[in-house]
Amino acid sequence: MKKKLIGPFTQLLPMRDLPLRGSLADDQLLIISTGGIVVEGEKITDIGAYQELEERHSGTIEHIKMVNSSICLPAYVDCHTHIAFAGERSHDFALRNAGASYLEIAASGGGIWSTVQHTRKITFTDLVEQIKINALQLLRQGVTTIEVKSGYGLELDQEIKILQAIQQAGEQLPIELIPTCLAAHMKPRDYNGSASSYLSYVGEHLFPVLIREGLSNRIDAFVEQSAFSVSEITPYLQRAKDLGFDLTVHADQFSTGGSRLACELEAVSADHLEASSKQDIALLGVSNTVAVALPGASLGLGMNFAPCRGLLDAGASLAIATDWNPGSAPMGQLMTQAAILASSQKLSNAELFAAITYRAAKALNLTDRGSLKPGNRADFIVYQTNSYQNIPYHQGTLLPKQVWSNGQLVYQENRGE
Ligand code: NIG
Ligand code: FE
Repeated sequence: MKKKLIGPFTQLLPMRDLPLRGSLADDQLLIISTGGIVVEGEKITDIGAYQELEERHSGTIEHIKMVNSSICLPAYVDCHTHIAFAGERSHDFALRNAGASYLEIAASGGGIWSTVQHTRKITFTDLVEQIKINALQLLRQGVTTIEVKSGYGLELDQEIKILQAIQQAGEQLPIELIPTCLAAHMKPRDYNGSASSYLSYVGEHLFPVLIREGLSNRIDAFVEQSAFSVSEITPYLQRAKDLGFDLTVHADQFSTGGSRLACELEAVSADHLEASSKQDIALLGVSNTVAVALPGASLGLGMNFAPCRGLLDAGASLAIATDWNPGSAPMGQLMTQAAILASSQKLSNAELFAAITYRAAKALNLTDRGSLKPGNRADFIVYQTNSYQNIPYHQGTLLPKQVWSNGQLVYQENRGE
């Protein structure tokens, strides 16, 4: 297979050799001026100053030249989404803006349960198409790894249908979807029994299918008053852990308890954290559990953001994800949300980019992406601009010119040139 030399990039930011946890200053970022990347097959094999790469790799190499000012970064990782859904909930949005709370809407039959009704009715083929449409929207923003949760089926066959649809959509896309089982999103209203008996039922009957059919190696749960309490969810998550699943938790969105449990169970991530207390922040600061902020949910619900500045200063690893879902976070724009969060929480550009690249990869337990170095997946994006600072500055309206995934150019913006 022919090697490719891609560049020269005005600025190449590999996002490598940076700490996994804690605050970051912009002067910690390595910026390679007039940089280049060598790709062989699906991997990066060399990276550095363009001219040196040209000398080192002379001979049978294909040159892919950048003719304008260009910035190259690792492709983004959206480590928390619910893009496998049917229907929409614009009525919930209107009700909330007229004064009803998210929990009141859920209690009165809207919320997650109404999306469950729509998602149960959609055919497998249509669900695959819907996931692909949403994933391609993220791809155009520079995202090449998308975590996708089930959780709108809430019965065994339906949860399996959703996870199989995620798998099929992933096979048909040039980017990677990481499936997560969120059968513990809420106790289904049509389940005749307690929350604990629903969870035991899922653990007993669904977990073995996930393992046998390779449908997901990640288990998520919504720990909240409207969903599952800490005591209800603990045996469920412990069982998943014992079976070898990675754990992730919807934690501290409205009330505390979830992030503490996530740290105790060594979950890969604790996500939301809008209501986290000082003690929770301190605990996440010394834990390997990645703190995932979901500014799209804060914007969708009109709530405060997670205390990201405090989390980073306490030593936590901070990732930022869209939480794209039809209810609380319908926007699905990663850079817009990260840039708004950064203004509000005073995050450096280094912290922002880390949160959507290698730290988001860490939240998914993936070590082969999120930074550009030899051996890593050749997943990177190219913007046509002259400084990386322009990217957050434009708050999501500056989009990548090119997106590369697994060594292939999978998207090229057409500006009619
Ligand atoms: O992450 N918090 C729970 N789950 C989703 C919302 C899902 C929905 O409202 O449909 C979230 O915000
Ligand atoms: Fe979520």
